[in-house]
Amino acid sequence: MTHHNLRGVDVQIPRGRLTVVTGVSGSGKSSLVEALDQAVRGAVDGPWRAVSGLEGIERLVEVDDKPIGKNPRSTPGTYAGVWDPIRKLFAEMPDAKVRGYTPSRFSFNVKGGRCETCEGNGVVKLEMSFLPDAYVPCEACGGKRFNRQTLQVGFDVAEGPADGPPPEKPRTLDIHDVLELSVRQALRVFERVPPIRRRLELMNDIGLGYLKLGQPSPTLSGGESQRIKLVNHLVGRGQPHLVVVLDEPSIGLHMSDVPKLLEVVHRLVDAGATVVVVEHNPDVMREADWIIDLGPGPGEAGGEICYQGPYDGLVGAAGSRTGRWLAAHADNDDAAPAAGATRKKAGKRGAAGGAAKKAATGTRSARARRSRGGEPGR
Ligand SMILES: Nc1ncnc2c1ncn2[C@@H]1O[C@H](COP(=O)(O)OP(=O)(O)OP(=O)(O)O)[C@@H](O)[C@H]1O
Ligand SMILES: [Mg+2]
Ligand SMILES: [Zn+2]
Repeated sequence: MTHHNLRGVDVQIPRGRLTVVTGVSGSGKSSLVEALDQAVRGAVDGPWRAVSGLEGIERLVEVDDKPIGKNPRSTPGTYAGVWDPIRKLFAEMPDAKVRGYTPSRFSFNVKGGRCETCEGNGVVKLEMSFLPDAYVPCEACGGKRFNRQTLQVGFDVAEGPADGPPPEKPRTLDIHDVLELSVRQALRVFERVPPIRRRLELMNDIGLGYLKLGQPSPTLSGGESQRIKLVNHLVGRGQPHLVVVLDEPSIGLHMSDVPKLLEVVHRLVDAGATVVVVEHNPDVMREADWIIDLGPGPGEAGGEICYQGPYDGLVGAAGSRTGRWLAAHADNDDAAPAAGATRKKAGKRGAAGGAAKKAATGTRSARARRSRGGEPGR
């Protein structure tokens, strides 16, 4: 294919594996995934001479760290798909059944069950001339977003915390109380409701257990948004029809958050998805089944494939700047830290390094499992 500074390159991206695209800034990484995007979307006329191996691929999802929506009505709960089964559950409660409430009654996005004074926002806007709009809690619902009748339906939490004594009597949560629960708390509350539990477990596993189900999406950090976007694609078991592209996902993440991101990426791959990550972070590269290194330089000085193949072959690859860098740094990285190791080094090994290693070990076996059979598609 030929696109921007990429001239006549021939790339292979193995299906159902993790491919990492590396190279200096301006070498053509985003251009490459842009073309892939067009190909998967079924463009007939793209910047390529030939594409093959797309049989059965139905969808490409691009995940960036932009906020998951400017709409304060979307929340981690709605976005990760836990809110629908929760509304269904509330509609199943005896109090709801006798009144004929449907799941939509428990939505703050549509008329019916929400507080109409604030239209389910929980706050009302005060328009002030010459000043920015101010928001105050809604007086009608006390900030609870739902009307009185809706809030009368309760879900009894029979179980105490898994690690403590059972409560004296069941605690009853209304739908607003549920919005206020953190993912971790909700996990205990809905332990016995598999469709809810599964999604909450995923959110917890990728390090988002502390988020409240009802936190407005625009207030989420970039890294939080990015991981929540991925949760939805993790729920289905098999995802062989899915291609996921992440362009520099570790930007803006603390090094101790990189393993959390990798955890999600591996789950996607294990579910059969083809994942392509543009990334400079060596921890992410190490996890790759397949590396495409572009360069050697930026712009016109780049656009070529310097290396294409498994990670191990990249380290020290003569034609690859990334490979030479990795080789030069591999020694220091694998040496045991000296007694008087600097804090930075000790910290890296202890926290991020350790977690990354752990993730890596888990992956190697996953990768070994996957690598039986399967030719890279083109
Ligand atoms: N629409 C375009 N038209 C012409 N040239 C472009 C276009 N988009 C990008 N380029 C050029 O193509 C080259 C590769 O750009 P690309 O965005 O693919 O780089 P990259 O490897 O993703 O870099 P970075 O790491 O900085 O994101 C650059 O020299 C860039 O200026
Ligand atoms: Mg780019
Ligand atoms: Zn209200």
